[in-house]
Amino acid sequence: MSSALHAFIRELEQDACWLEPNRLRERGEVLDRLETYLGCGLPQDADASMTEAGLQQRMVALRDAFEAADHRLYQSIRHDIQQGGGARTLLAWVTGLGSDNVVEPRASGDSYDYLDVLIAGVLQIDEPDAQIAELADEMVFYQPTPARHIFDMIRRSALDKHDVLVDLGAGLGHVPLLAAICTGARCIGVEWELAYVDCARRCAQALHLTQVTFIRQDARAADLSTGTVFYLYTPFTGTILREVLDALRGEAAKREIRICTLGPCTSIVALEPWLEAVGAQEINQPTLFRSIEACAEILP
Ligand SMILES: C[S@@+](CC[C@H](N)C(=O)[O-])C[C@H]1O[C@@H](n2cnc3c(N)ncnc32)[C@H](O)[C@@H]1O
Repeated sequence: MSSALHAFIRELEQDACWLEPNRLRERGEVLDRLETYLGCGLPQDADASMTEAGLQQRMVALRDAFEAADHRLYQSIRHDIQQGGGARTLLAWVTGLGSDNVVEPRASGDSYDYLDVLIAGVLQIDEPDAQIAELADEMVFYQPTPARHIFDMIRRSALDKHDVLVDLGAGLGHVPLLAAICTGARCIGVEWELAYVDCARRCAQALHLTQVTFIRQDARAADLSTGTVFYLYTPFTGTILREVLDALRGEAAKREIRICTLGPCTSIVALEPWLEAVGAQEINQPTLFRSIEACAEILP
């Protein structure tokens, strides 16, 4: 084990390829390993020479170099976004082109994977600096949609620059931010928690995303009149969900709308007679619904 660790550190030091932008995923795995050694100490059977501060320092130097390589990658993608070219760069990562054409078996369900690490590094959304208010009954606490599902939602809904996406219960704003970057659509995040709205606004401003708006509001009071695509990552349940679905049904009486859901609210939305599911419905994946033409006629 001790010689294996030596060889591992030497290989990392000698191979500059590890610092290439497209090695992000592999670098993340190595960083986890280095952090484990640095946090928990060297392996028990490491001989005396390996427990010296020298080996520790080499690992710290490698960790710093790897983190700096990640940071350079994030900054270059941020620069592309600020110049209006973020879609090409980000979508290349989603299809695997950014990572040596290797499309990883992605995480399943609502767990996160290296794409979330990339998105966190690119968006650099602040931690909320204010106290998060307690949510009322039926309001669901914040949890971000895993990035792969956001890109899947964009693909399924065929979102484009003519659309207006409304994320009802937008949290820190990942969905409107990424949708705006990747499609040019106008995107609106409606969120109850002011501290989240402040963070999302700062991110949009830093990335020069002028077509994204964040509104601090209860979704029940939101103006839905401009939306063409509505996203719900189970932001609320019970009577709040009922009230918002009724408001969406009112919009669907005037024009066709699309609704994309994720999580437990999908099974409730699927029962709405004025909506039909489009494409595959898989558990733990976004599901797309479209209002049916006869919607105006079936309204009570
Ligand atoms: C599961 S998170 C989804 C976050 C975001 N849509 C995403 O997918 O990354 C639910 C969010 O809805 C917000 N929320 C809950 N009830 C709300 C309401 N009535 N009006 C607006 N936002 C609400 C919560 O504060 C939380 O940020």
